[in-house]
Amino acid sequence: MDTASNYNYRVVKQFAIATVFWGVVGMLVGVFIAAQLAWPALNFDIPWLSYGRLRPLHTNGVIFAFGICGLFATSYYVVQRTCQVRLFSDKLAAFTFWGWQAVLVSAVITLPMGMTRGKEYAELEWPITILIAVVWIAYATVFFGTIIKRRVAHIYVANWFFGAFILAVTLLHVVNGASMPASLTKSYSAYAGVQDAMIQWWYGHNAVGFILTAGYLGMVYYFIPKQAERPVYSYRLSIVHFWALIFTYMWAGPHHLHYTALPDWTQSLGMVFSLILLAPSWGGMINGIMTLSGAWHKLRSDPILKFLIVSLSFYGMATFEGPMMSIKTVNSLSHYTDWGIAHVHGGALGWVGLITMGSLYYLIPRIAGKNAMWSTRLVETHFWVATIGIVLYIASMWIAGVMQGLMWRAVNADGTLTYSFVEGVKATYPYYVIRFTGGLLYLSGMLIMAWNTYMTVRDSQPVASRIPTTVAHV
Ligand code: HEM
Ligand code: HEM
Repeated sequence: MDTASNYNYRVVKQFAIATVFWGVVGMLVGVFIAAQLAWPALNFDIPWLSYGRLRPLHTNGVIFAFGICGLFATSYYVVQRTCQVRLFSDKLAAFTFWGWQAVLVSAVITLPMGMTRGKEYAELEWPITILIAVVWIAYATVFFGTIIKRRVAHIYVANWFFGAFILAVTLLHVVNGASMPASLTKSYSAYAGVQDAMIQWWYGHNAVGFILTAGYLGMVYYFIPKQAERPVYSYRLSIVHFWALIFTYMWAGPHHLHYTALPDWTQSLGMVFSLILLAPSWGGMINGIMTLSGAWHKLRSDPILKFLIVSLSFYGMATFEGPMMSIKTVNSLSHYTDWGIAHVHGGALGWVGLITMGSLYYLIPRIAGKNAMWSTRLVETHFWVATIGIVLYIASMWIAGVMQGLMWRAVNADGTLTYSFVEGVKATYPYYVIRFTGGLLYLSGMLIMAWNTYMTVRDSQPVASRIPTTVAHV
């Protein structure tokens, strides 16, 4: 069954199931830390349950486990289908799966133990960082090896986005990961002071640009046309916004360091590039949404399309909000407040989460040899539960964020602060409870998906999807 004349669906299936599994884990930790912010006693005075250790577990769980497993699954599926060849190497592909799971399990063990490099989104200590680099090189070899041996002359645009994500992560990870080990479990960054901060946020912002954006745009360009049964609205626009996006993202990192020791001109440059970034981002969003031209009615009855299209609306929202927050005067209000958390989760839950879920709902039945998911009604239920959860999450954090910013800057006529810090914390309490409720709903949606996935794949046999002997359209 699993021969060279078939596509390699085995590794796609493994990564797809891992995505669902890690989604539940990462979001469960998210809900737990959201509860801790409302009810701090939930720390139970146990160090490995403390907020400071579980927060990075959440971010690693949702970005590197849920997010990147989803990118592995979809990129391996899309690159084979669009190049009409089997993956470059089955063994290397299997290595990427098991190697990546080893990275994730190491994170689950070491982060609650308090082992960290102290760099946001790059917390994992140096032995794990090295393992990540090795797996990543194997991933790049499988992906680009498949592109090289393709039987279709053209490289479909989705592969450009996946390829940019893989290449950029290599660069970011190697540069920001450079450190000096002091022991097996502790290392120090190779950079110091403001340079360290700049490298960290060059990395951090490009993690947004290339992990949380470019890879998912790869999903947009394959799964939306497929599910809508319509061609991409404008292929030319897809190429133009690809180059504009990857060029611009690289320069916007300093907007994370406004009003710091970073030279002022660098901050302004970051702000200007962030404002420019609105254009290519919206180019992508419009291209994706307009692909539905002539097929809008399908949105009414097709819950998978709802996931895919609504995710793009959240992408549009986050990429409008981001440039606004990068304006220095706006940032002076939003920075350090929950407005930032609202922005992050508008992008994370609305864009990254929904596009991944929609793409997997397309992909899972196909790799399980079924016509559709076990229950389409549950897909619809998941969509609504998740959407209501997102709205509760981001609306509460927007209100809390603006309120905090205004309370912190309020001064009396004599120049003293109107509110003490703890008054701001007290005022935020109801919003933390609402955010927790929204998170709980979003997690419930993920659990529904896990059940539906289990019922779809439980009795599935390995699928022999033959590669066409003559080159056809993808
Ligand atoms: C045009 C696109 C975007 C721009 C210009 C932008 C800009 C910004 C700005 C100005 C901040 C706040 C920095 C601060 O005050 O510390 C921020 C934070 C953040 N944004 Fe965006 N954003 C964009 C799109 C997105 C998208 C699509 C996501 C996807 C999830 C995202 C994820 C994040 C994250 C995770 C942070 C928090 C970083 C941290 O402090 O840990 N952004 N962004
Ligand atoms: C059930 C869903 C989720 C809940 C309840 C949740 C909750 C939280 C909480 C409470 C924080 C800490 C906020 C703070 O320190 O003030 C956080 C941070 C974060 N979460 Fe989530 N989260 C969820 C899903 C996700 C997903 C799916 C992603 C990404 C795909 C994500 C990405 C992040 C990031 C990047 C941060 C750090 C933001 C920053 O430092 O500015 N979250 N989340």
